[in-house]
Amino acid sequence: EFHLHPKELDQASDHLVAHWDKQQLQRGYQVYKEVCAACHSLRHVAFRDLEQIGYTEAQVKAIAATWQVPGVDPVTGEATTVPGKPTDYFPLVYLNDVAARAANNNAIPPDLSLMTKARHEGPAYVYSLLTGYSEIPAELTAEFPDFSTPPGLHFNRYFANLNLAMPPPLAVDDQVTYADGTPATIDQMAKDVSAFLTWTAEPSLPKRKQTGWPVIGFLIFATILAYLAKKQIWARAK
Ligand code: HEM
Repeated sequence: EFHLHPKELDQASDHLVAHWDKQQLQRGYQVYKEVCAACHSLRHVAFRDLEQIGYTEAQVKAIAATWQVPGVDPVTGEATTVPGKPTDYFPLVYLNDVAARAANNNAIPPDLSLMTKARHEGPAYVYSLLTGYSEIPAELTAEFPDFSTPPGLHFNRYFANLNLAMPPPLAVDDQVTYADGTPATIDQMAKDVSAFLTWTAEPSLPKRKQTGWPVIGFLIFATILAYLAKKQIWARAK
């Protein structure tokens, strides 16, 4: 009962006429890049995919070059990192799980590409988790006096364990400065990055939802046709 169900989250991709809010997705990308990417990878997404959220080919090229991806030194032939190209995928953050655990109090920051699919009510969950850090409520300690948040963990009622290894990643307003001038409140940044991760997990989501409209249109048309045909066929029957 102390573990909370995700909060309501209103997203353009859930509207009756489902669509991506590309400005929002671009803001979400910015939050991912400037905040989450310190710990979380996005391995199933390629830089060129960002054209789908409204960046031009030239912008994507420039964005890719701001990331370091695995490569080879052209002179020595040794493994190194090189600036990304549009066809590259977002890079991993850690060499392996051991390194990931060593940097994160023995927890592994999961890849975020499919996170909104991996959790129940994923987009709302991610939004709630990011805005859900709090003190331990008194009712909880009243009922479970032994409950505590060990050092290095953080209390969050949207996380199934209640204690999680991720420190609050969005800690202050204006942690990022949005290119489009939107005020970067914690709530706004959390919503934007949730929308971005909804897109990474299912880029074709609005298309899938919109398919329903022509289907309904066809069914109405077919129903009218069947009705008229029935009238025609039975016209002379008494
Ligand atoms: C876990 C999102 C930033 C470290 C998670 C989870 C999500 C998430 C959705 C999974 C929770 C679950 O398993 O249900 C984000 C987003 C970020 C962000 C959207 C940026 C806004 C960071 C940063 C760090 C970090 C900067 C490192 C300082 C971790 C760790 C876990 C985790 C260690 C595993 C927690 C555990 O299993 O106890 N994050 N994160 N995250 N994150 Fe982040």
